[in-house]
Amino acid sequence: MKAHELFEEIIKGGQADKITCDTLKAGDPNKELKKVAVTMFATVEVVKKAKEWGADMLIVHEPTYYDHFENIEDLPVVVAKRKLIEESGITIYRYHDYMHHREVDQIPEGEIYYLGLKGNVEKTPYSASYLFTANEPITALELANKMEKVLDIKKVRIAGTRNKKSTKIALCFGTPGGVFELLCDPNVEIVLTGEACEWKLAEYARDANTLGMNKTLIVMGHIGSERDGMRLLAKRLGENHTEFETRYMECGEVYTYTEEKLCQ
Ligand SMILES: [Fe+2]
Ligand SMILES: [Fe+2]
Repeated sequence: MKAHELFEEIIKGGQADKITCDTLKAGDPNKELKKVAVTMFATVEVVKKAKEWGADMLIVHEPTYYDHFENIEDLPVVVAKRKLIEESGITIYRYHDYMHHREVDQIPEGEIYYLGLKGNVEKTPYSASYLFTANEPITALELANKMEKVLDIKKVRIAGTRNKKSTKIALCFGTPGGVFELLCDPNVEIVLTGEACEWKLAEYARDANTLGMNKTLIVMGHIGSERDGMRLLAKRLGENHTEFETRYMECGEVYTYTEEKLCQ
């Protein structure tokens, strides 16, 4: 199988934005595949790891050069990183729009799968944001602990209510649309997101809780809130394709912390 054939296979059933970012980012689309790596971000470290492993193709969810469409000037980091990627010979495809915009968005699917939550997912009017109704009521604190333990997120942030059993959870992984609107929706108790504007969203949740409402914002970090979708993609590719080897490559969280044990 060639790299472009695998890309064409995974985008089937999905829909791209009008102008899509899901394109070939580097390398030869006709490369024959023996080894395929899957990651959230093609960081410098991931590119080096993928090269060391002998990857022919790298499937990424996020931009490689700090711009949604990679339209960026030749900044020092861009020039150096481009050189490294070209020298690696790895074919890189981005899989983003087609992954989110399908009957079942594969990012929340992966997050819920690895979190081990059971419940019902409904679409909302906002792109890549969903409403999850949990079968078993859970508190925000229990949910955040689960994320640190099961998803290996180093520090989950909680604003608002911590200890009320809840079932109505908005899934706003990454930085999608409608996060504030869903937080304000009286039907929503907990909002899970990757990144959030602190003065607006976190303060709204804090005041709502102080006023006696059940309202929580949980900030997981961008990578922590989306990478398990890519992990699930790698798992499925490995199950469906024995003609090449598939490996999920962890890019790790972007922030480090003062505690040494959280810095690996
Ligand atoms: Fe995403
Ligand atoms: Fe994202």
